[in-house]
Amino acid sequence: MKQEKGITRREALKRMGLLMAGTAASFTGVSTLTACDKVQRKRIILYFTGTGNCLYVARQLADKETEILSIPQMVKQSRYYFEADEIGVVYPIYGHMPPNMVRNFIKQAKLKASYKFAILTYGNRKCDAAEIWQRISQEAGNPFDYITTMIMVDNWLPNFDMNEQIKIDKGIPANLRRISEDLSHKRKWHEPVTEEERMQHQEFLQRTGLDPAKGFQLLCQDYFVVTDRCIGCAACVEVCPRGNYKMTSQGVKMEGDCEFCFACIQNCPQRAIGFSKGERNLLVRNGEKNPEARYRNEHVSLWDIKASNRQ
Ligand SMILES: Cc1cc2nc3c(=O)[nH]c(=O)nc-3n(C[C@H](O)[C@H](O)[C@H](O)COP(=O)(O)O)c2cc1C
Ligand code: SF4
Ligand code: SF4
Repeated sequence: MKQEKGITRREALKRMGLLMAGTAASFTGVSTLTACDKVQRKRIILYFTGTGNCLYVARQLADKETEILSIPQMVKQSRYYFEADEIGVVYPIYGHMPPNMVRNFIKQAKLKASYKFAILTYGNRKCDAAEIWQRISQEAGNPFDYITTMIMVDNWLPNFDMNEQIKIDKGIPANLRRISEDLSHKRKWHEPVTEEERMQHQEFLQRTGLDPAKGFQLLCQDYFVVTDRCIGCAACVEVCPRGNYKMTSQGVKMEGDCEFCFACIQNCPQRAIGFSKGERNLLVRNGEKNPEARYRNEHVSLWDIKASNRQ
């Protein structure tokens, strides 16, 4: 170790020891003390995102003591133990259910915190999403104190034109203020659902044939195609949380269990990925509302999505 000018070797080692103790404290989630001895709450927010809405929400709910962690990266690292004063999960609802990766993550995770909150983003119809999460997390041994939904741009391409969606005022700042306020008071609350919403979800399951124990877990090669617009930029390889895309000598190939997050389709700069046609592809057989329109949250970059999801 190079010795700093003007201080002894002993002094330099002492300073390094202090530095290491500080680093260890921040990794173990021990509450830190500010200069005025006010206890700061350490918050961890775990998120999943395809098009950035959930990362945006996670960032908006973070302060300087907050660690924002991507669920696909945690799964990649086999990291399932988390300890903090407060732990939050932010995910997009898919058919009113959590993404498959989030569902599997919560089953394996050990979340040690005195307050746990979940924010479920959606675009148009939430149905009983809050209750579904309450049930899944409870069964996983990770019950949540606070569960709410939050409406944002709907990135479901079969039904919505992204260019139209971004024009709709969905009251995002007001909703963020409401949630922030609730969290600051550690509000214990599960957003209520109605009997009608439960029935709508059951009708959706019957119509789509999706397995309620898995939600959207389908094979991407059955549903998506890469067209000759592709320029081989490899963005799809990096934004897929499942690592389904590969660059080959014959171009881009995709294969494997898919979250249906649309990160690949929405973030392809060439709009070169679309839905494959076929009667059995009930979910996407009507194609897209607008194949030329793509969406990523305006506050989130392509780099952010890659960093969140790359395998
Ligand atoms: C496969 C899939 C299913 C979806 N299902 C619903 C739904 O049932 N109800 C709804 O309101 N929005 C639904 N959405 C919209 C997303 O939940 C919403 O746009 C979310 O904010 C996207 O978050 P992200 O940008 O972090 O990926 C769905 C989107 C996808 C891709
Ligand atoms: S992101 Fe689009 S253009 Fe880039 S390699 Fe993938 S399919 Fe091709
Ligand atoms: S293939 Fe596309 S939709 Fe499926 S998990 Fe990967 S990025 Fe998401």
